[in-house]
Amino acid sequence: MCLMDSIYILGIESSCDDTSAAVIKDGVLLSNVTASQAVHEAYGGVVPELASRAHQQNIVPVVDQALKKAGVEREQLSAIAFTRGPGLMGSLHVGVSFAKGLAASLGIPMIDVNHLQGHVLAHFIKDNPDEVHQPTFPFLCLLVSGGNSQIVLVRSYKDMQVVGQTIDDAAGECIDKCSKVMGMGYPGGPIIDRLARQGNPKAYQFSRPSIKGYDYSFSGLKTSFLYSLRDWLKGDPDFIEHHKEDLAASLEYTVIDILMKKLRQASKDLKIKQVAVAGGVSANTGLRNAFQDHAKRYGWTIFIPKFSYTTDNAAMIAITGYFKYLEKDFCPMELPAFSRVTV
Ligand code: KG4
Repeated sequence: MCLMDSIYILGIESSCDDTSAAVIKDGVLLSNVTASQAVHEAYGGVVPELASRAHQQNIVPVVDQALKKAGVEREQLSAIAFTRGPGLMGSLHVGVSFAKGLAASLGIPMIDVNHLQGHVLAHFIKDNPDEVHQPTFPFLCLLVSGGNSQIVLVRSYKDMQVVGQTIDDAAGECIDKCSKVMGMGYPGGPIIDRLARQGNPKAYQFSRPSIKGYDYSFSGLKTSFLYSLRDWLKGDPDFIEHHKEDLAASLEYTVIDILMKKLRQASKDLKIKQVAVAGGVSANTGLRNAFQDHAKRYGWTIFIPKFSYTTDNAAMIAITGYFKYLEKDFCPMELPAFSRVTV
């Protein structure tokens, strides 16, 4: 490759129930194609075996479409970046094996990406070369998804320190489970978000954790929600139907309050006012509003990702791969997937 050649990275994400592929050229996104798996809705949660089967069906057409949309031939690719973990092992295996096969056939390097690091670096995805609103280092990132709730101190593209994290359930998991208890669909996050917009956030109070430092806990809130609901249903069997908006708004308000309190403390102690949010729960309207409010009240410079980059997507894997490519940080063919780890 001569110095003037462009760098094309194909990113592949298959850690949970979204099969996604994206192409980035010199740090600018050309395509980001995602196939979601509706099959899990009937079960109220992701069924690992069904997820890996669906990835098997989706991976070839999704990668084909991503390349087609980008107008890029396989032979132009400089490297393939893939999610190595954390995630569901069977799901990860599909993406990892596909990436290995394609990289080997093209004779190009492979780049392993930590899914959580990808979520944080989603803030550096450029839809066009002139995009400027991006964080500078150091910044804090609240990473909130179905599997994680962390406060990450980001010192560089690769130097990230988890300064606080949940000791039990993740924020998204708590919302999803409470939504399930109310008999709502899956995933509960977007449903609770929609209902909460019409409800009173102060209608009901649920228990809040008292955990030291910047760590979180959401299992107590989940239990408190369940027990309160059980009591209210004794008095009125249609309680949920009559009060679903207020229940959703109060639950959402409590989760956001817990998240923002620790984040505020971390920002104050570490004297960092650039604050970002990432992960599936960052799609939440109330959380986005809370960030806007904190920007005004505490002088934060905030970074909120586009909706398409909040939930699992390959664009964040491709951009992380791009930064690693610049440092020639490649991985060997025999590298296995991993299911659990933090950034
Ligand atoms: O990052 P993500 O796509 O997957 C991982 O967990 O890795 O996050 C999924 C989570 C689910 O818990 C889902 O309910 C939640 O993000 N979510 C939301 C919203 N959209 C997705 N939670 C609250 N409000 C939303 N609008």
